[in-house]
Amino acid sequence: MALDKTSPARYTITAALPYTNGPIHIGHLAGVYVPADIYARYLRGIGKDVVYVCGSDEHGVAIPMKAKKEGVSPKELIDKYHGIIKKSFQDFGISFDNYSRTSASIHHQTASDFFLKLYKQNDFMEETTAQLYDAEAGQFLADRFVVGTCPKCGYEEAYGDQCENCGSSLNATDLINPKSVLSGAVPSLKDTKHWFLPLDRYEDFLKSWILEGHKKDWKPNVYGQCKSWIDEGLKPRAVTRDLDWGIPVPLENAEGKVLYVWFDAPIGYISSTKEWASRENKDWEKYWKSPDTKLVHFIGKDNIVFHCIIFPSMLKAHGDYVLPENVPANEFLNLEGQKLSTSKNWAVWLHEYLEEFPDMQDVLRYTLTANAPETKDNDFTWKDFQARNNNELVAIFGNFVNRVVVLTHKYFDGQVPQHAKLNEDDLRILAELKKFPDTLADSLERYRFREASQELMNLARLGNKYLADEEPWKVIKEDPERVKSIIYIGLQVAAALSVLSEPFLPFTALKLKKMLALESEPDLSWTTIRSKESLLPAGTHLNKATLLFRKIEDNEIQKQLDKLEATKKANEKENSEIMDQKETISFEDFGRMDMRVGTVLEASKMPKTKKLMVIKVDTGLDVRTVVSGIAEDFKPEEIIGKQVTVLVNLAPRPLRGVESQGMILMTENADGKLVFLNPDEASVNNGSVIS
Ligand code: 2FM
Ligand code: ZN
Repeated sequence: MALDKTSPARYTITAALPYTNGPIHIGHLAGVYVPADIYARYLRGIGKDVVYVCGSDEHGVAIPMKAKKEGVSPKELIDKYHGIIKKSFQDFGISFDNYSRTSASIHHQTASDFFLKLYKQNDFMEETTAQLYDAEAGQFLADRFVVGTCPKCGYEEAYGDQCENCGSSLNATDLINPKSVLSGAVPSLKDTKHWFLPLDRYEDFLKSWILEGHKKDWKPNVYGQCKSWIDEGLKPRAVTRDLDWGIPVPLENAEGKVLYVWFDAPIGYISSTKEWASRENKDWEKYWKSPDTKLVHFIGKDNIVFHCIIFPSMLKAHGDYVLPENVPANEFLNLEGQKLSTSKNWAVWLHEYLEEFPDMQDVLRYTLTANAPETKDNDFTWKDFQARNNNELVAIFGNFVNRVVVLTHKYFDGQVPQHAKLNEDDLRILAELKKFPDTLADSLERYRFREASQELMNLARLGNKYLADEEPWKVIKEDPERVKSIIYIGLQVAAALSVLSEPFLPFTALKLKKMLALESEPDLSWTTIRSKESLLPAGTHLNKATLLFRKIEDNEIQKQLDKLEATKKANEKENSEIMDQKETISFEDFGRMDMRVGTVLEASKMPKTKKLMVIKVDTGLDVRTVVSGIAEDFKPEEIIGKQVTVLVNLAPRPLRGVESQGMILMTENADGKLVFLNPDEASVNNGSVIS
């Protein structure tokens, strides 16, 4: 049975360290923190030795950039958001054993020591290479300081470290047409020295550890991303940056250089464990170095490469540490059909949710779990939230518990009755009840939190249906003895729910335990439910019935939908606002652009990309191929035969292995949808010059 499987002595569970450049929203909860919390609470529930750590990620260029935008210092920014984020986690019952921050001195020390050990072991390559430099701002550009076209998918807003469109991890110098985010200037190249982790040295290790060792137990989305990374061939990655915000490189002659945020952040899991251990008088090393420790990283899909390729290579190079046993990364959650976005304020912020739905943390936890983006991106809708609450939590779980506790008070003065002879139905319910710890454990051990949440609801359903079938409120008139058994059985189901719901609905579980006078009952647990004769013994005095959940009315949902509609309108307005004019160019500059009218002859979507379309255009000069990022706005068949404007003398560039020989001119309408700049009349000849 699932609960009896031999499992490790101890678990180290980590949840991605959130950047302290904004508050957190439902996407963060659904993707990382709620599943990690369910897992940690479940393991504690079955008596495992668990440490569950997290903390704020306070380095990286995102911090000084956001600070500049808010007109505060980076330190003020991180202090503000560290506080807000930490409070949101507490409010939602995320039961970290420690929530640290990467500005803590223990972390600076741990990360510096880690770097130095690798440095002394000659695990780095020290190289002077030409990097992008913004002469206007007097700063090297990496990561989020530079945007340009992704060489893999053609997305034009890719960052210097990652393309958010195709998920590729990039070096700033890989970008096509790079542009400084600081000044808008086109960067030049300037030599600078950095330390690189030669990932190519770890290829064999990664192949045997992941591709052979974890083919079966890692989620297909995680395994697939790792495989394509490894198959493409790994390259050395710089682990330092020219920046004045971060952990200084602990070497001489490294002034002005800091550790790359993705080098120090995952070490934050270790620092957080150390902080916890010193407070709790524990040995942190057991949780990171002992082979009988199981390390599990909970992250979102954009962090896969860092947790499955780069950090494990660092741990391997270091030599003393265990490797992650699993990295159950989730896909993304959308909101009402649109990508969650901090900059567009398209989100449900946790602190705002609690203002609208005070004391309803469990409803959000449950909704996000029941609809978690475990295998594919998923959508959060307010209607679904209402339905999950009203039809499941209220109508099944809450209704069942309320009925059985209220009836106990009504018929038996709040005392658990001694049952009479149990009939076949009663015995079947008791037998089914005993199977639930294993059923739930089986789903949870496979990181199937959605499935587990539905199993939990099935237990409530079992109790609810039993009461509805037995109708004690009718039977009481002719057979009060029988009602004793019915209520007794119902209360056993409620008692099991109070234990098994704890990982999912911690606030509700506690309320329920209090109602059933079980909050200090040491003998009732995941394991004992399977064997204990009586989970809630006859004679126990129950406390007053309180409602566990309340119905959510249509007007409450409409209010949230209206709020989103207002956000949408504001974004549309902003989109339609006129961009500042670019710097003046000479007539000669303009004259160098050769724009022609052409007709689309063929179009097809580029495989494995979301946005790219491969288009054959008759330009009047020739028939050429242009790769264009329009596949999200148009179907190939919609554009065949259309006249378009083509910049024909743009230098050809390869996009995903296809040479693009020009650019089709487009603009965005007020809804953010692309539209062609095509001649009004189809009577224009292909090749006509636009001047
Ligand atoms: O993507 C992010 O939000 C990062 N701050 C996650 C860091 S996870 C870890 F490595 F610390
Ligand atoms: Zn890309």
